[in-house]
Amino acid sequence: MTPLHLEDYRDLAQHQLDHKTWDFVEGGAGAERTLGANRRAFARVTLRPRVLVDVSACDTGTELLGARLATPVGVAPTAYHRLLHPDGELATARGAGTAGALYVVSVFASRTLEDIAAEAAGPLWLQLYWLRRREVLAALVDRAATAGYRAIVLTVDAPQLGRRHRDARNGFAIPAGISAVNLGPALMASAHRSAAGRSALAVHTAEAVDPSVTWADLAWLRERSTLPLVLKGILTAEDAVLAVQHGADAIVVSNHGGRQLDGAAAGLDALAEVVDAVGAAACPVLFDGGVRSGTDAFAALALGARAVLLGRPVLWGLAVDGAAGVAGVLGLATEELAHTMALTGRPALSAVDRSAVTLGTAL
Ligand SMILES: Cc1cc2nc3c(=O)[nH]c(=O)nc-3n(C[C@H](O)[C@H](O)[C@H](O)COP(=O)(O)O)c2cc1C
Repeated sequence: MTPLHLEDYRDLAQHQLDHKTWDFVEGGAGAERTLGANRRAFARVTLRPRVLVDVSACDTGTELLGARLATPVGVAPTAYHRLLHPDGELATARGAGTAGALYVVSVFASRTLEDIAAEAAGPLWLQLYWLRRREVLAALVDRAATAGYRAIVLTVDAPQLGRRHRDARNGFAIPAGISAVNLGPALMASAHRSAAGRSALAVHTAEAVDPSVTWADLAWLRERSTLPLVLKGILTAEDAVLAVQHGADAIVVSNHGGRQLDGAAAGLDALAEVVDAVGAAACPVLFDGGVRSGTDAFAALALGARAVLLGRPVLWGLAVDGAAGVAGVLGLATEELAHTMALTGRPALSAVDRSAVTLGTAL
């Protein structure tokens, strides 16, 4: 089957993965209300097409923190890509490069930052959690700069891991042959220890991630690096304002794909609030959560996102066909975005603004 839309990759991937890995990828926190809400929010978007506009060339190109991108659709940070494909993040980097897309590498990557950078043709950002061991955090920031990563993304919505029932029921743990190689075996040991009724990742997060971190600590991170600092996991106007006040160079509106606080707003419903709060500050807002087509990407861009990130769809592509699958997913979403731009009479991303959408009842 040639995939015609992103959900085709989902169906193909499901056939290839064992059920524990599938649940890890697909699952959300709690009753998965927020996971479902992320998707439902897009059904309430209707498009306002303008006609008799020259759409003979629709340009999806954009610029983000100084880097040129062929597409505003990028790769969200997701852990342990070797669960999906033997090449892991090396394949993801190649696929993102083919698509001309941004790739945000997770601190729980299963390939080294340096090896990933060697495969990358496009910009890389490194995502971090605030580890209890600050010297490890500092070393990662240094390594990222040396390897040519262009920004640090601090994920701020996970002082504890979400209560992911699927992983707990499965006693999910990371298999011995796959590991977060950038953190070293001692720091990662508990992530590999399976136990009935609990997620090893929840145990590991409690051990490794510092839940006491506050806005005041960001200065410490800023002092360690000249790389731009991006905060991922902002959902309110209040925190958007604090992020700008504390010198964030960009914000990612995200509820972690419904994997953290169950009951949090759908990402799309929080987007306009955050964009409005950031206002004229030179702080681009990115978006992730539930984007499953170029039309969804268009909706988020129209509501003020400068770029959108795909989490699970990239993992589906990776499982199905390695680098080609990742490039396929990103390429398809970009093709659909360009098509939506043409049929709505908005040939450049600068014309994709709030006049292009209405948020109302589900179609
Ligand atoms: C399997 C999986 C692993 C993830 N790992 C991380 C991670 O290591 N760091 C992080 O900031 N977010 C992580 N996320 C969240 C994604 O960055 C992103 O916010 C989310 O997947 C977007 O929603 P979507 O999957 O609906 O596109 C992960 C998501 C999934 C599905």
